[in-house]
Amino acid sequence: MTPLTRPFRSVLYIPGSKTRALEKATTLPVDAIIFDLEDAVSPDEKAKARELLAETLSGTDFGPRYRLVRINGQDTEWGPKDLETFAKVGPDAILLPKVESRAAVAEISARLDAEPASARTRLWAMMETPLGILNAAEIATGPRMEGFVMGTNDLAKDLNCRFRADREPLLTSLQLCLLAARAHGLICIDSVFNAFKDNEGLRVEAGQGRDMGFDGKSLIHPAQVAITNAAFAPSAAEVEIAQRQIAAFEEAEAKGEGVAVLDGKIVENLHVETARALLAKADAIAELES
Ligand code: COA
Ligand code: MG
Repeated sequence: MTPLTRPFRSVLYIPGSKTRALEKATTLPVDAIIFDLEDAVSPDEKAKARELLAETLSGTDFGPRYRLVRINGQDTEWGPKDLETFAKVGPDAILLPKVESRAAVAEISARLDAEPASARTRLWAMMETPLGILNAAEIATGPRMEGFVMGTNDLAKDLNCRFRADREPLLTSLQLCLLAARAHGLICIDSVFNAFKDNEGLRVEAGQGRDMGFDGKSLIHPAQVAITNAAFAPSAAEVEIAQRQIAAFEEAEAKGEGVAVLDGKIVENLHVETARALLAKADAIAELES
């Protein structure tokens, strides 16, 4: 599977300090895991968590789950050692907090270049500060860059905006990052939904993220996984329409026409491309779940 057809519906944060949660990871139907050393781990536990996580990642088969490690910022007392340690482990990706420039990405990439174990390790950026959001387009072009994860808790704090269920105060920021990600072929993951016992609220917000174009949502609790996997997967109805669109267009083409009509709506080449991408995504999910 190429990165862009690979599903990233559910991206679960697991605190690097929590043994029980780390053990659970191999049983959860998540598409990706963010093993966290940053905000989910208290200062007292940072060093121990780094050690536990390095050991766990080296000795555990996480199956098809994509493995990201969120390290501490390079301007903290833990960040440089986190980077040094996980460059030797070589996870699928390293997630950098509070990225604000392309140069910050390039600096980390250069350090990974010196470590053969991380030859295939990609970089992802947390998009969670006003300056980072404004620089999203240049950050997206950084070396090894593969994805963005939205961090709206930090962003809301800096913006001084209020929490609203419709996320109106955050929409410009979310869309700037989506635009930058799509312009440069990156994966783009929506932020967490804090009220982890509010299933209906999560369903609504995940649906909003899917409608906007995000590839998936970052999660804090296993109870959020099934709802999110469903929200970001093509529905049976969408698959059926896609199949009918392709058939209708092929029929029109055979008659020498460039446009088909299905259920009173036009179907052009571009709709067929979207339909094929949707079917490829459904296949990729089926493959992941088989
Ligand atoms: N990943 C994997 N397993 C998790 C988990 C996670 N993020 N959060 C909880 N679990 C597990 C627990 O270990 C527990 O397992 P068990 O019943 O088999 O022992 C089970 O899920 C139920 O947990 P629950 O008791 O409902 O949650 P909690 O009260 O222990 O923890 C949180 C709630 C929010 C503190 C916890 O989910 C958490 O730490 N989430 C991650 C927060 C984070 O990463 N924040 C940074 C990014 S915003
Ligand atoms: Mg943050």
